[in-house]
Amino acid sequence: MFFRANRMQKLPPYLFAGLEAKAEELKSKGIDIIDLGIGDPDLPPPKIFTDAIKAFLELPNAHLYPTSIGDLEVRKSIARWMKVKFQVEVDPKTQICVLIGAKEGLANLARAFVNSDDQVAVPDPAYPVYANGATILSDGIPVYLPLFQKNQMLLDVDLLDQKFKMVYLNYPNNPTGAIATNEWFSQLSEWAKSNSETIVVHDNAYSELTFYGYKAPSWLQFYENGIEFFSLSKMVNATGFRIGFAVGHPEIIQALVKVKTQLDSGAPLFIQLAMKQILDMYDEYGNPPQIILENLNVYGERRNVMEQGLTQLGMSFVKSPATFYVWTKVPDGWDDLTFTEAALEKGVILTPGRGFGNQGKNYVRFALTQSTERILAAIQRLKTL
Ligand SMILES: Cc1ncc(COP(=O)(O)O)c(C=O)c1O
Repeated sequence: MFFRANRMQKLPPYLFAGLEAKAEELKSKGIDIIDLGIGDPDLPPPKIFTDAIKAFLELPNAHLYPTSIGDLEVRKSIARWMKVKFQVEVDPKTQICVLIGAKEGLANLARAFVNSDDQVAVPDPAYPVYANGATILSDGIPVYLPLFQKNQMLLDVDLLDQKFKMVYLNYPNNPTGAIATNEWFSQLSEWAKSNSETIVVHDNAYSELTFYGYKAPSWLQFYENGIEFFSLSKMVNATGFRIGFAVGHPEIIQALVKVKTQLDSGAPLFIQLAMKQILDMYDEYGNPPQIILENLNVYGERRNVMEQGLTQLGMSFVKSPATFYVWTKVPDGWDDLTFTEAALEKGVILTPGRGFGNQGKNYVRFALTQSTERILAAIQRLKTL
């Protein structure tokens, strides 16, 4: 008999296990499944990125341990990217840490700052890592702050409290697709300045997944003492390559690096250098290269098709110029679980909203990770519910 640590009991059960088993069962019966559940891009990464990985793999030092903080030349490219994109100046030596994906950094950061029973503010709904991988696994207590449609899913800054050791925020948002206004960021920075011991963490993992001319701002444009996370996962369809970075106040970054030196040895050098290649392709005004714009056109078109289809279904959602998610209210008489199960019977996988928090109980998340044809087919199937 083995006894797991108490903190393991506090982690919520894996909600998707039952749904995954059901999907497998349907697949084994030969039923065609359209997976709009997982936020994993179906499109391939640009060839220039995979070619770079292959080329850098041949470097004589490619096989050696990298450093936890990341290669300095890569960090210099990140600093340039922050400057051209956001006009944010950071010191590549002290204010940047390369990550094995944003998730790793978001979770490890809490280990550096959260003491047992410290309170950490996390939005509801939100990417589950803030509450679980970060807070609970650091023996902290997540305090769930609800996001409401009437506030455009922006956190009510009045709910923040100086007792919070950290606050996690994320715009463009998973799962809702919500974006933050400059006014809201300014209001948040006013709060942060007068509560300077609370670390305000902004997860900008979807910064590059924006359409229709919308550009996501950086939190560091508004508040230089915070920390912000970026990822190449959605930028270049590279979820499996595990690469991202954190930028922020030197004391916060150095604490994260200290934790990481004890846990990992950094992202593989050849992946870091391939990321550098992509970041260096942004022009002097911060515009992304054509390979990223092409990708965005595809997601933008899918979003149009999905939003039209959901309108036909009579399902309500808020239009968004960012992310590849559509956060949709389930029709009257359903909740997220009953709707998700019924959709699955029709061969369509969706994510039930409660996977992101209690506020999600009447919502489902559609991920735009299938072709427009498959999205249209999914809508047809949902019409028969
Ligand atoms: C809000 C948010 N942050 C972070 C991540 C993880 O990013 P990465 O793949 O860089 O670890 C995800 C992945 O889905 C996400 O939705």
